[in-house]
Parts: sequence; structure tokens; C-alpha cells
Amino acid sequence: MKKIAIIGGTGLTQLNGLQLISSEKIDTPYGLPSAELITGKLHNKHIVFLARHGNPHAIPPHSINYRANLWALKHLGVQSIIAVAAVGGITAAMAPACLALPDQIIDYTYGRKHTFFDDDTTPVTHIDFTAPYSSALRAQLIVAAAHANIQLVNTGTYGCTQGPRLETSAEIKRMERDGCDLVGMTGMPEAVLARELQLEYAALAVVANWGAGKTEGEITMTEIEHNLHAGMANALGVLEAFISS
Ligand code: HPA
Repeated sequence: MKKIAIIGGTGLTQLNGLQLISSEKIDTPYGLPSAELITGKLHNKHIVFLARHGNPHAIPPHSINYRANLWALKHLGVQSIIAVAAVGGITAAMAPACLALPDQIIDYTYGRKHTFFDDDTTPVTHIDFTAPYSSALRAQLIVAAAHANIQLVNTGTYGCTQGPRLETSAEIKRMERDGCDLVGMTGMPEAVLARELQLEYAALAVVANWGAGKTEGEITMTEIEHNLHAGMANALGVLEAFISS
């Protein structure tokens, strides 16, 4: 089995059940990652865990040092990354508390350090990103979810916004017209940096709320936390089935 890392998002700052082997502060050419990288054993397999927003959760999506995070994972010999992320639901199948495995991305972020090929311009590198998520890793996660009897919406386009504010209802309408099923704030540049480092990458998205304007009234943190709690249990179930397979 390949060396696996889990990047935990909002609602997954620590991986319970992970037997700690080491916790490393890794200084990278791009600065410090969001947190120490935890190596541990889960179901007798070695995995690496990184809290995307830091531990405790303190770094907003636009301030995450994505390059340092991905570089540090590669440095530890990681080959496959499963990114867990909280998202908003846009299309009908993406109701709060459901779990989705997106297969496409639209990037609406700006001003983020989004490439390792910034300075190294000879030769200019244009990586292929037609399919932004690893199809092999996605297929394994689909099998794991079926084994664990956990419902997984196994297709969908993830629209990545800049945050940290949530969207306006007009922005969500536009995203729906663009073809987005889900909206989140951390999927990019995480996915493309993984591709640049030739790391397999897939995302388990836990729907925390309907996107702005999809329901009456405002989106509250209480609603987000409640749905995340329910949905995250399923994400963990899929991860455990995947790791023990
Ligand atoms: N928008 C963007 N990111 C999110 C949302 C949302 O509605 N919910 C959880 N992460």
C-alpha cells in the first residue's frame, strides 16, 4: 500500500484512534506548514495526518500555506493524500450532512501562492489538470464506502471560493450556472500543488450547509457545526474502511 496522508479540515483537527509515532515540525523552502505533521498507526497502517487550519483551528482558508503543507507531506514520503473538507451544497444531491467525492474543480480563488513553478521558469511547466483528482484513489474510496455501507455521492464539481466570508446568493447562482455542485474554500490550490508534486489526491467533502440563498435566512455556525458533526462520522468511516482494506 502507498504511504497515505490525511489532511483534516474544519471539523477534523485531530484523528482519534491514531496511535502516535512521531510529531514533526518541518521547515520547508516555503515556510512552515499549518501544524506539526503527525505520523501514527491506524488499523496497523502507518499514516500521516496534517490539520489544514492548524491545531487548534486558527488559520483561515486564504492564509493557509498550501505550498509548505504539500512540500512537507512529499518530504515525508507520502504518495497519496485524502483531503477532508467542509463544503456548502449547491445542487439537489448535495444536502447538508451528506458526503461527496468530487471529480472536478472550478477555481474562483485569487492571490494565493498556487504553484511550485513560480521561479523555475526554464522550461516553463504546464502540468495536465484535465482530471484534477486521482481516478485510482477515487475508485478505491468508492469501494471503501460501499464496503462500509456509507452513502457517498461519487461525482460533483467543487467550486473553490476565496473566503473567509461565505458567498452571496448571486454568487451561488452563478456557480450553479457554471456547473458547480459544491462550494468550499480550501480545495485550491491544494489539489494542483499535489499534482505538481505527483502526489495522488482525492477529496472527501462533508456538506455543512446549503449554499447561500438556497434556503431562507442566514447560514449560521451552529447549523454548520451540527451538520459537520453528522457528516464527519461518515467521512471517518470511509477513511477507516479505506485504510484497513
Ligand atoms: N461556502 C464556502 N465554503 C464552505 C461553505 C459554504 O457555504 N460551507 C462550508 N464551507
